[in-house]
Amino acid sequence: MFAIQYPAAEKNAPKTARHLLSIDDLPAEEITALLDKGFFYAKQNRSLQKKSNLLYGKTIINLFLENSTRTRVSFEIAGQRLGADVVNLSGDGSSLKKGESIIDTIQTLNAMQPDALIIRHGDNESAKIAAKYCHCPVLNAGSGTTEHPTQALLDAMTLFEHFGHLSGLKIAICGDIKHSRVASSNISLLTKMGADVRLIGPAELMPDDITDYYTDMEEGLSGVDAVMMLRIQKERMKNALDISMDDYFNQYGLTAEKLKHAKSHAVVLHPGPMNRGVEIDADLADDPERSLILKQVENGVAIRMACLDLLVGGRR
Ligand code: CP
Repeated sequence: MFAIQYPAAEKNAPKTARHLLSIDDLPAEEITALLDKGFFYAKQNRSLQKKSNLLYGKTIINLFLENSTRTRVSFEIAGQRLGADVVNLSGDGSSLKKGESIIDTIQTLNAMQPDALIIRHGDNESAKIAAKYCHCPVLNAGSGTTEHPTQALLDAMTLFEHFGHLSGLKIAICGDIKHSRVASSNISLLTKMGADVRLIGPAELMPDDITDYYTDMEEGLSGVDAVMMLRIQKERMKNALDISMDDYFNQYGLTAEKLKHAKSHAVVLHPGPMNRGVEIDADLADDPERSLILKQVENGVAIRMACLDLLVGGRR
């Protein structure tokens, strides 16, 4: 739906704005700066006065062409808490439904002089293409199967908050690695910050270019500090999985029993949305001693405030 028709030739679009398109564009020191700002905003978000006027007078457009709860709402709250006006547009209800192309849509929104465009789209190149047509910063809120930079930043913030460091942590990412932009961005960020990342899942859910992974949960979980569970993204699969959901849960669903193979202090993360009883046991997901899942959600608002502050706040 809403496929991008790639332009035959790129227009002379402005390239002056600073964007957040990929973790690959962020050096470790910028990641650290974003996490620091994230902690500043997390504290503010827990106070009575949550709002500032840093982005007063600025307009942020939230263009979400795939479903979202956490990312869309947290970007909206982030913009509002920084004092910006935030406009939401989804595919349903837009003129994309009348056949307008995504590039015409982006150029139309850009002509309204926004100060930031936040985009989620199923195409891997969508945010990069949007950046070519926008005068303002473009923030990637999830593109295809490859990039979800603000998710990786909020996950790093959550791990840093819990452990006090990222370097040296052993982190298992488990499940549907093949279709997961969360996995892809997290592998890039956590490795850059000195963590030791390992992948666990069935061969059919591993990207073709990855050969170093565990298919056995107990082996893969051995000695890890944190486990990041992933949803099976059936909406991105061309063929049905060979494995039934019951068998999947038995082999790869994280339970308190399987977690015993990790370090005794190991914690559990999940970007959401969760399928309880498929990739994670419901009781474990709700266990406040082990699960950081709602902390991830809370930190999502703070880290998106940090991204908007650094990318949009400095532009006058
Ligand atoms: N983690 C994540 O991107 O969730 P949403 O799809 O609800 O935004």
